[in-house]
Amino acid sequence: MSKIHRIAPSILSADFARLGEEVKNVVAAGADWIHFDVMDNHYVPNLTFGPMICSALKPHAKTPDGKAVPIDVHLMVQPVDALAQAFAEAGADYISFHPDASAHVHRSVQAIKASGCKAGLVFNPAAPMDVLDWMIEDIDLILIMSVNPGFGGQGFIDSALRKIEQARRRIEACGKDIRLEVDGGIKPDNIARVAAAGADTFVAGSAIFGKPDYKGVIDTMRTALKG
Ligand code: DX5
Ligand code: ZN
Repeated sequence: MSKIHRIAPSILSADFARLGEEVKNVVAAGADWIHFDVMDNHYVPNLTFGPMICSALKPHAKTPDGKAVPIDVHLMVQPVDALAQAFAEAGADYISFHPDASAHVHRSVQAIKASGCKAGLVFNPAAPMDVLDWMIEDIDLILIMSVNPGFGGQGFIDSALRKIEQARRRIEACGKDIRLEVDGGIKPDNIARVAAAGADTFVAGSAIFGKPDYKGVIDTMRTALKG
C-alpha cells in the first residue's frame, strides 16, 4: 500500500471570486493535489466550472519554489468524453469519471490516457465496483465517494469505509500502483479512520476552505494520518 498520504483540497468550497489566490494559498499551505469538482447540472444537481477555469488556474497550482502541483479533475458530468478531452488540453493531470456516466467506460479511459493524463474511476455510495474486474489494470486512480456527489459540506457516509477496504484489496491483488482517493466529508477527526480503511489520497473542501488557517488544518490532518 502506498505509504504516501496526499491531501487534495477541493476548490468547490473555495472563494470563487478569488480562485487563483485560493489555489496559490492552499498550495503554499501544503496541499499535494488540487481537486476540481466539475459538475454539469445533469449528472448531478449542481453546476460548477469548465476547462477554461482549469487553464486559468493551472499557473497558480505551483509551490513557492515553482514545482507544479497535480490538477485532479473529478468529472461529475454526462457524457464524459468531450469534456475529458477539453480538461486534458486545459492542463489536467488526473481525470476521473463515474462509470455510469459513460456509454463505453473502457473507451473513455483509453481516450483519457491517450491524451497524456492519468485516468480514474469514481464510485458513488450505492455504486457497485464490479467494473474494476475489467478496468483495474487500465486505471491510475480509484475515487470512492463518501457523500452523494453535488455539494460540499455534507456528512461522511460510513459505508464508504467498507468500500475503501474492498477497493484496497482489489489494488493489492492487482499489484499495480493505483491511488485510492476518498471524496466527501473528510475532516481532521475522521481522516485517520479513512486512511486505516486503506485510502491514501483525501479530498477535503469545507474542512479547509473558509477556515482562517489552511496550513493549520492541513498540518492537523497530516498529524492525524501519522497516527
Ligand atoms: C461532492 C464534492 C465534495 C467535495 C468535498 O460532489 O466532490 O465531496 O469535493 O467537499 P467536503 O470536503 O466539504 O465534503
Ligand atoms: Zn470530487
